Amino acid sequence: MSRIFVIIFLVKTIYCQEYQNAVEGGSWQVVVPEINGAAIGKSLGMQTVHAVLLPSGDVLVASGSSWRNRGPIETFPQSDDPKGSEGVFQLREDPFQMEKIDDYFQLVNNVGVYNPDKNTFFRVPHPTPVPDPKWSDHFAPNDLFCTGHLHISDGNVLFVGGTQYYHPYRTGNRATYLYDWRKHANISWNEVDWRRMPSLNDTENEFQNPWLFSGLMERGRWYASLVPLIDGRLVVMGGFVGFDHGYTDMYSFENNDLVEFFDPQIFASSSDKQLAWTKVNVKSTLNGPFTNLINPTFKPTPGINCTARCIKDNQYDVFKLYEQAYLMAENRIYLTREGDWVSARTHDTAFMRKTKATYHMHIGGTRQSPTVQFSPGPSRAENITSYGTTINDPNSGRILLFGGQPTSPGTQLYRDDTHQGYQRYAGGRGSRKLEEFFSSYYEAGGGHWSLKSNFLGEESQDDRTMHYAILLPTSQVLIINGANYDFYGSVNYPILLTPKFDPVTGVFLYYNKTRMNEGVEARLYHNVALLLPDGRIWISGGGSARALIHYTSLSEQPLSEHNSSSGKQPLPDNSNVHLDLQMFDDGRLSKGTQGSLTVPTETWVAEIFNPPYLYIDGQRRAMIVALSYVKSLDYQFESIISGRRYYLLHSNSQYNIHLSDLPKKCSESKSDKLVLIKLGSATHGWDGGQRLINLSFKETSSSTTLQFTTPEARIALIAPGFYMLFYIDCMGKPSIAQMIRFDDQAKMP
Ligand SMILES: *[C@@H]1O[C@H](CO)[C@@H](O)[C@H](O)[C@H]1NC(C)=O
Ligand SMILES: *[C@@H]1O[C@H](CO)[C@@H](O)[C@H](O)[C@H]1NC(C)=O
Ligand SMILES: *[C@@H]1O[C@H](CO)[C@@H](O)[C@H](O)[C@H]1NC(C)=O
Ligand SMILES: *[C@@H]1O[C@H](CO)[C@@H](O)[C@H](O)[C@H]1NC(C)=O
Ligand SMILES: *[C@@H]1O[C@H](CO)[C@@H](O)[C@H](O)[C@H]1NC(C)=O
Ligand SMILES: *[C@@H]1O[C@H](CO)[C@@H](O)[C@H](O)[C@H]1NC(C)=O
Ligand SMILES: *[C@@H]1O[C@H](CO)[C@@H](O)[C@H](O)[C@H]1NC(C)=O
Repeated sequence: MSRIFVIIFLVKTIYCQEYQNAVEGGSWQVVVPEINGAAIGKSLGMQTVHAVLLPSGDVLVASGSSWRNRGPIETFPQSDDPKGSEGVFQLREDPFQMEKIDDYFQLVNNVGVYNPDKNTFFRVPHPTPVPDPKWSDHFAPNDLFCTGHLHISDGNVLFVGGTQYYHPYRTGNRATYLYDWRKHANISWNEVDWRRMPSLNDTENEFQNPWLFSGLMERGRWYASLVPLIDGRLVVMGGFVGFDHGYTDMYSFENNDLVEFFDPQIFASSSDKQLAWTKVNVKSTLNGPFTNLINPTFKPTPGINCTARCIKDNQYDVFKLYEQAYLMAENRIYLTREGDWVSARTHDTAFMRKTKATYHMHIGGTRQSPTVQFSPGPSRAENITSYGTTINDPNSGRILLFGGQPTSPGTQLYRDDTHQGYQRYAGGRGSRKLEEFFSSYYEAGGGHWSLKSNFLGEESQDDRTMHYAILLPTSQVLIINGANYDFYGSVNYPILLTPKFDPVTGVFLYYNKTRMNEGVEARLYHNVALLLPDGRIWISGGGSARALIHYTSLSEQPLSEHNSSSGKQPLPDNSNVHLDLQMFDDGRLSKGTQGSLTVPTETWVAEIFNPPYLYIDGQRRAMIVALSYVKSLDYQFESIISGRRYYLLHSNSQYNIHLSDLPKKCSESKSDKLVLIKLGSATHGWDGGQRLINLSFKETSSSTTLQFTTPEARIALIAPGFYMLFYIDCMGKPSIAQMIRFDDQAKMP
């Protein structure tokens, strides 16, 4: 009895010392979804490597095969020197034969959707693979693990590529799909047996499948980046290629040298969907990465197959994996060079490009026949890092880059050598830096970079990698998730950055940093975080290594029947998935070791962070009642889609916003704001979707109505698509967002 008492007392003491109240430090909640879905208590039952906010307000999460290993495999210390794990899809096993498609589907089928209003978590079937036009009797693999994703202007989400094989190399697939959110919002997910592969030709159940095949890219992409253009096209770049028919002798870590364009207009209007894709090869384009000689003395790591072509290519720069890239004026895309190199990691780091180079990519030509040119950007302050995170900062106008792993030799090989007498693989060590890109038309290279070494903290425990920087409605920035290393040393406290401006000129001065209360779960590699329409932050996924799956073919172990009138989804059978493996060396696994360092290989529990702004002024919260137009419009202003109201905004137009529950009074120094935030699209420590636009407005004769004017999309660089419109009251508390579509080409939301 007394021991229990002491523990309770200690916990209470720690709580009081470490935790600030929610008004200062925010608060956390563990997500325990309603029981009609596929979650089991607080366990979502799946890893979530990718997360996208849909215009319906739902969070779509996906992880595909998640690089699970198929058991039985050798582990340490059960075996002194286990073989490196080979993942589930191996080239020599010819896994994409049509007759194996059902088993393939079972291994990749990890997609889900969380509804923050109803607190439901449903599983959604993974998209159905299509026949491979270049390879008879085979389907085109479409594993969404390490896919790229971004919204197109109608709010649907384009997924490009992902995993092809794990062995002999990690390679990318060519498949692309659109996720149709309107269809999604019309489905009673509690009735859907998500375990069964939707048939491509099933017209009766057409309304039950929100996935739309949207063509094959020219070559595979494992870790692709997407950037939206103002004309609605998406630019796709980067990623490892695959073993693609018609292309011979690929080598390990071979990068895709094609820039591809997806055109939603052609996709919607053409019967040949493949016409929506155009491509430009930039392998020999001047001033670009592929013609920048950065390492003339490159030597491959012994034991890695590197042909003469591989050696030559590795002397030059390439697109980074998950390149963190931003649209600038005049269809110029700035490549910050942050993103991933660690997937090309070899123990001596020979296969990691060490360079300070950045690039501007200029998109020209026509929609049917685009062109791509490059010009050199300014050098980064230090050699480029892996898995720092960047934002396009609305307060300073700079691109900010927080943390990340240096690529210098040795830093990739940090191990924890204290645990039970042997070493555990931790990945690469992050940093505490802030690098800032100051864009300037007048400087050579279009600007310059600066460096602050200890921005995220003074102590080594503050080092971060695999974290996110989230733009909040209040124009604050939340640094959240991540760890000291890829696979070890989670950093559980967010940092809230509050911008400070010169009171006279309004010029940005600095960020005030406040440490927030800590979350519960470790959010290591493969975690996700994004802003919800209600102002909270969704956090899920993450893990230290790769789970083991004892997979039994469907022909030997058919699925149980689902009672569709029960009103509940069938639960996942995860008895065959083992989460207690740890990497003790890159690729090799250990099992059965418990201790303070042990976290599951996949984290299936989601959390929500409530930022301090939600606690301002008690329960009161300003609400957006409606929007209206000032002058008559030549398009349909509002629509109701599955019970929710949506508005369509165009450039250079005036609208009214009608509010309720405003604060009684405010001090003079504080003022209210109106912002648009683009819907998040997060994976691997970067949200390529988010973007904050400050709207100017004026008061009207009604104290609850403001009149705002939209900027010119082309000048303010507002890519067509769905945005959350937040009103932030004069006390600094945001409303719940109104979903709007900002799209000059569209005639209805
Ligand atoms: C919603 O689903 C029903 C069938 O379940 C279908 O008839 C209807 O057309 C769908 N609506 C939309 C907008 O997809
Ligand atoms: C589905 O339809 C396509 C074209 O209409 C056809 O080529 C394919 O064989 C069909 N697949 C199945 C599984 O029936
Ligand atoms: C390297 O390539 C050769 C010939 O293709 C093959 O036999 C060998 O297994 C490969 N080695 C590795 C480590 O992939
Ligand atoms: C930066 O890259 C250069 C060029 O490859 C290399 O010589 C140097 O060692 C790197 N510096 C660090 C600190 O890694
Ligand atoms: C930073 O914010 C804290 C509140 O979180 C406040 O107490 C402090 O005065 C601020 N510091 C500066 C320099 O603005
Ligand atoms: C299916 O579920 C319904 C509703 O819960 C229930 O009445 C019915 O007995 C179930 N059928 C079977 C076969 O379990
Ligand atoms: C945003 O807009 C408001 C209202 O027009 C203005 O007061 C404020 O200074 C702007 N903030 C920034 C960061 O531009």
